[in-house]
Amino acid sequence: MSIFNIAKGTEFEDLARNLMQAEANGTMMYYALARLAKEQGYDDIAPIFIEAANQEAVHAGFYATLIGKYPQNFWSLVRGLEKAETCGEVKRPSRTRCAQPVFRRQPMRWKSSRVRKDITAS
Ligand SMILES: [Fe+2]
Repeated sequence: MSIFNIAKGTEFEDLARNLMQAEANGTMMYYALARLAKEQGYDDIAPIFIEAANQEAVHAGFYATLIGKYPQNFWSLVRGLEKAETCGEVKRPSRTRCAQPVFRRQPMRWKSSRVRKDITAS
């Protein structure tokens, strides 16, 4: 049984939306703490914050699914994400710069051949 959008129209919908945002905020906070910990030489603590951030992201995704934040048929969204995450590297004119974070990002690559096939098929 899918949990997609089951909170829609229920008394729980607003709470689920607020919890989703709180978990997303927790994700950002823990990743920021991990970065700050590394900057300050606490290399042993940073992975703990990263794990906490990962868990918060899972929780945020759970609530996002409950309220149907993203489409159940997600492949068109994934195709758009892939283009954004690779910064349109194929189509980008050579002198145009992408908005890049301070660190150099690796292009999103799909490891699973099944996923690759699904993306190109739809
Ligand atoms: Fe959480």
